[in-house]
Amino acid sequence: MYDIPFIDLPPLAGASGTVRLPGSKSISNRVLLLAGLAEGSTLVHDLLDSDDTRVMLEALRALGCRIEPEGAALRIGGIGARLPVHEAQLFLGNAGTAMRPLTAALAVLAATQGGRFEVSGVARMHERPIGDLVDALRALGCSVEDLGRPGYPPLRLSGTAGGRLATERAIPVRGDVSSQFLTALLLALPLVADRGDVAIEVVGELISKPYIEITLNLLERFGIAVRREGWQRFTIPQGSRYRTPGSIRVEGDASSASYFVALGAIAAQGGAPVKIVGVGSDSIQGDIRFVDAAEAMGAQVRRGPGWIEVQRGRWPLAGLTIDANHIPDAAMTLAVMALYADSPTRISGIASWRVKETDRIAAMAAELGRLGAEVVEGPDFIEVKPMRDWKAASIRTYDDHRMAMCLSLAAFNPLAGGRVPVRILEPRCVGKTFPDYFEALFGLASAAAEDLPVIAIDGPTASGKGTLAAAVAERLGYRLLDSGALYRATGLAAQQDGVSPEDGPALAQLAARLDLRFEGARCWLRGREVSDELRLESTGALASRVSVWPAVREALHALQLAFRRPPGLVADGRDMGTVVFPQARLKVFLTASAAERAERRHKQLISKGISASITDLRADLEARDVRDTQRSVAPLKPAGDALLLDNSHLSIEESVQQVLDWWAERQVFSS
Ligand code: DC
Repeated sequence: MYDIPFIDLPPLAGASGTVRLPGSKSISNRVLLLAGLAEGSTLVHDLLDSDDTRVMLEALRALGCRIEPEGAALRIGGIGARLPVHEAQLFLGNAGTAMRPLTAALAVLAATQGGRFEVSGVARMHERPIGDLVDALRALGCSVEDLGRPGYPPLRLSGTAGGRLATERAIPVRGDVSSQFLTALLLALPLVADRGDVAIEVVGELISKPYIEITLNLLERFGIAVRREGWQRFTIPQGSRYRTPGSIRVEGDASSASYFVALGAIAAQGGAPVKIVGVGSDSIQGDIRFVDAAEAMGAQVRRGPGWIEVQRGRWPLAGLTIDANHIPDAAMTLAVMALYADSPTRISGIASWRVKETDRIAAMAAELGRLGAEVVEGPDFIEVKPMRDWKAASIRTYDDHRMAMCLSLAAFNPLAGGRVPVRILEPRCVGKTFPDYFEALFGLASAAAEDLPVIAIDGPTASGKGTLAAAVAERLGYRLLDSGALYRATGLAAQQDGVSPEDGPALAQLAARLDLRFEGARCWLRGREVSDELRLESTGALASRVSVWPAVREALHALQLAFRRPPGLVADGRDMGTVVFPQARLKVFLTASAAERAERRHKQLISKGISASITDLRADLEARDVRDTQRSVAPLKPAGDALLLDNSHLSIEESVQQVLDWWAERQVFSS
């Protein structure tokens, strides 16, 4: 979803409700690799479905693992530490959690069982260092060739069967650039612990220790009991072998939880908290400790196994000085919470931000600055001053999911003296870990009605307004109200109940209790799908009769208003710009000549295998235009401030572009 150039978040004023988190990325990719290497099959529940897990799954498939869905879970058939495939080229996108451990595992497998593997990724992946891991693997006796810049992917890992590795000495690995190098070795070395213990010696101060704890925890679930001496030396006992736990459940992503913890702290007021389900007090993820930092800034938190509930406590939030080495990913969220604090926030110990999906210190400083914040950055810290003047900004996301998710929280600026929208560019980057992030956010967020943008589109029958409205809504990531569908559904409900289209009061009663549910272009009436029935000509005719009753129109009014929810609405139909949303920021009246409309309708009917005469169709349309324009209730007429768009000679794409251009003229983004 949201494969669009930007999404505009309106000024948001509150949040409450429940969010179910997607699975943890760190756990998902570790579990996948372990399951893929283990003997036997593993049923994985609640796996994250995202860009980063997809590349890992594809890699495992290419390496000969059988992967099959089983209900909502995924069954991974492991290779039992024996390579069935000895050559493969693996594309790993920008997934560090796939690149590092696969590099290590394939290097030692190729060195001992023979093989030739190439690992590569997107351009940014080729800028993310891996040299410390490569050094460790070479010290072990693996053949690792740089295929690009030394110390960075792409790499070739090769070897011949029967090779021996130097496992008798402790393998040194640096721990101060990325903890993923150590994780990679820990995950891979049980493959070669058949002759003796294998020890790893960390050189330099180990960063991001909680991620190592996740690794150790999951290794244990797969039968490997690593001995640890402080954070310096890790020993994999001789004879270690991966054993499948049979099935395993992936807990919700604690880093993803941080956005909703922050949301609760900023925007959940009046005793209605934000409840986060999927991660809680029993989490094995280090980023769960973000919750403590959020509490220190003012969040009011309750938590139990598998859940966290957050609401606003102190307000404004309190600035915080924190060494965030233990929560490097979630700490980004603190930098945005800092905008809502009354004293500066200083986050240090985050040098690793510079080698993540993007240089996150630079990116965060630049984008917070765009919003109007005063930011100081250093090699391994960032300091954010309290916000004085919010600017409507277009936020760059650097193909970094966390930039998009963090900065979306700036849309709650009305709670801190602002009232500006926030544009998030390239929002689909959230697909790396949280493909439905914006839907989840909009599901919880609320806004003042007047801050929620509405585009009203009306026009005569067969002008193509439905198609135009749907395309504009999709392109902007807005909700869609096909108001005709409500009248059509009322007609269907009346038919079901044997209510006459002439019985206005009874129709109005029906309309007031219409049990309707929309999901994209699909619609359910009273729990039964009616998407196709709704589009029938006969239903349209019913709707046309039903819709002349003022009491019916009145009864549907509130239902239509309820569609105005974040991030915005495109409303299509008769009185959208005049009666229901008279304050709509853009009103479009779409027309086309009767000849052109008759031709389009003709094509449409022919494509459905229905024959019709163009002349008759045109006469029908013209008669309907006259009826529609002259009827006393909700006549077809452009709102006074509507822009006319004659699409007789325009393609759908050209019409959509025209509306988007008009919309762009109404935007306030300064940078
Ligand atoms: O747009 P449509 O064909 O789905 O509309 C079905 C009927 O409902 C049509 O006769 C117009 C009427 N209608 C209305 O009166 N007011 C609206 N907002 C939408 C549709």
